Amino acid sequence: MVNQILLHISNTPLDLVDYCKEQGIVVEAYSPIGHGEILKKKEIQTMADKYGVSVAQLCIRYTLQLGTISLPKTANPQHMKSNSDVDFMISDEDMETLKHFKHIENYGESSSFPVYGGKL
Ligand SMILES: NC(=O)c1ccc[n+]([C@@H]2O[C@H](COP(=O)([O-])OP(=O)(O)OC[C@H]3O[C@@H](n4cnc5c(N)ncnc54)[C@H](OP(=O)(O)O)[C@@H]3O)[C@@H](O)[C@H]2O)c1
Repeated sequence: MVNQILLHISNTPLDLVDYCKEQGIVVEAYSPIGHGEILKKKEIQTMADKYGVSVAQLCIRYTLQLGTISLPKTANPQHMKSNSDVDFMISDEDMETLKHFKHIENYGESSSFPVYGGKL
């Protein structure tokens, strides 16, 4: 069984992820790059620089290290290539920081969609 949920840095429903794990339900991370909003966060860029990766790679690696399946969207072949190159490890300390990173308050023009408006 699979549960696809909005899951990215700044929006990580840890209780739900843990519950799914306990029940043997696979979690799929919808919008792992926060619909592109994470790309604007300076603190996340700083952390990505520390690992020598892009923000998108950090976002994707984060969801993988949570034990979820990452579903990044891109229409750009270069992004697609680099997004699959995530063979690095985020430290436990940085994972904790990312799990509790301040919540994204709005998703721009997409905020009206139920999934980003907190209704799903
Ligand atoms: N089944 C379908 O046809 C379909 C279509 C769309 C979305 N979806 C799914 O719907 C969910 C929501 O989509 P989302 O757009 O919120 O996903 P997302 O993966 O959180 O964000 C995608 C955004 O990040 C950008 N991006 C991706 N890789 C990047 C990189 N390496 N560098 C810079 N920017 C990068 C994309 O722009 P670029 O495109 O310019 O890279 C796009 O603006 C996703 O889980 C996706 O898989 C499914």
